[in-house]
Amino acid sequence: MTNLTESLPRLRLLAEEAAQHAYAPYSHFAVGAALLYEDGAIVTGCNVENLSYGLSSCAERNAVYRAIAERGAGSRIVAIAVTNLAGQASAPCGACRQVLHEFAAGDAVVTYRTLEGWATRPFRELLPDAFVFERPQ
Ligand code: THU
Repeated sequence: MTNLTESLPRLRLLAEEAAQHAYAPYSHFAVGAALLYEDGAIVTGCNVENLSYGLSSCAERNAVYRAIAERGAGSRIVAIAVTNLAGQASAPCGACRQVLHEFAAGDAVVTYRTLEGWATRPFRELLPDAFVFERPQ
């Protein structure tokens, strides 16, 4: 946990850098996410919008999907940073929480921009009753 806390400032910075690549011409809300994996790897993502608004894709999910494309799904996420370039709060949306849950360690932490600064909380507090089920054999 000590090492994890030490890595959060860099993770936040990388999320902010990723937000600079956002394609958000419709909302003008540029979001960046950075995922820290248990092996120390960091993968970032930004939101990508579409003229057909519903096709827009969040920074957090884009980061997860990029990570899987680049590295496979064998490693757990231990920390998540999310921010935006508008000075607004940036807690991950509900859909992203469920997708992050699929690949996050049980004790993963999330750090995100709020109006007052950064909030850092156990990820499980953001999605206490994640959807889970036992796959039928
Ligand atoms: N957005 C994210 O990238 N992550 C979130 O957790 C919430 C919303 C994006 C989607 C859309 O491009 C813009 O923010 C405005 O909703």
